[in-house]
Amino acid sequence: MKLNIAVLPGDGIGPEVTAQAIKVLKAIAMEFNHVFTFEKALVGACAMDKTGVPLPEETISICDKADAILFGAIGDPKYDNDPLATIRPEQGLLGLRKTFDLYTNIRPVIAYDDLLNKSSLKVKQIKGTNILIYRELASGIYFGDKHFSNDEASDVCKYKRSEIERITHLAFKAAQGRKHKLTLVDKANVLASSRLWRAIVTEIAKDYPDVTLDCMFVDNAAMELIINPRQFDVILTENMFGDILSEEASVIVGSIGLLASASIGDKHAMFEPIHGAYTKAKNKGIANPIASILSAAMLLDHFALYDEAALIREGVDKALNLHITTPDLNTKYDNISTTKVGDFIEDFINNPDETNLN
Ligand code: IPM
Repeated sequence: MKLNIAVLPGDGIGPEVTAQAIKVLKAIAMEFNHVFTFEKALVGACAMDKTGVPLPEETISICDKADAILFGAIGDPKYDNDPLATIRPEQGLLGLRKTFDLYTNIRPVIAYDDLLNKSSLKVKQIKGTNILIYRELASGIYFGDKHFSNDEASDVCKYKRSEIERITHLAFKAAQGRKHKLTLVDKANVLASSRLWRAIVTEIAKDYPDVTLDCMFVDNAAMELIINPRQFDVILTENMFGDILSEEASVIVGSIGLLASASIGDKHAMFEPIHGAYTKAKNKGIANPIASILSAAMLLDHFALYDEAALIREGVDKALNLHITTPDLNTKYDNISTTKVGDFIEDFINNPDETNLN
């Protein structure tokens, strides 16, 4: 298969982790006779520094022509301390989501057996957790009307029926291929937008009789996710709740450096780790590349390259099993760098039966 991939490394540790994902994709292309080409573009703070805007036209055009987008990370603390700034690096990412209508964000949360003791939660509570979060990504409070003055500010959370329906069908279909359970997370006891979600999702549930629908308020879900995460199969939720709950869920996995995501629209798709730019770690070789590498696996899944994606995941499992991991996860070795993790998974793909720590 030929795939033209737009690469947006972005800020902070983004370039380092994305380089490992590209290395792994190149190994896959070689092994399976695919042709993957990569075209880089600017986004975020680095784009602001070079062009004055977080999402340059050229980046939009490169992404528009590409089959998929591989995204790194966004943000720079130097832009965090001016609450009045009207241009921010994060607008680059939000602009991509809006421009390409990437309305379904899929975030798998898996408790790896080899990492159970890395979580600050109890092993018996998290063992076996396997959740798929479906976060609405192109609407809600992130994109509603905004108003700011010195005395008053507001962000409108607005959802249209069609915006809820399209992701809901995808989430139900995902549940059908898993444990047949869907939990809608909302705040329907307070928010009108949540009541619309609940009404529509309950209505659509009738089309999927083999899936059990459960509805949970977000405050309760935040607690249940920690005390009994195994009860969840697919979680469906709106934009901001999904942002918060998926970051909370990284505690189950042991490190946010492991959580990958896919942001899917009808015509475009983008793949990105859920972690941010972690600027303090930039160029220190300590950034965990696994979330980016697993995002590359999700990219391959999107094009139905399932064997290829499975081989990447096997490589990741093996790296975790042998403690070939960056310091956020490692208690055994203290010198495993970002590049070394990428090299290990690359070697594994080239030679699955022979790769060991050397
Ligand atoms: C995420 C991030 C973004 C979000 C930021 C960087 C705008 O937290 O992808 O989860 O809030 O959606």
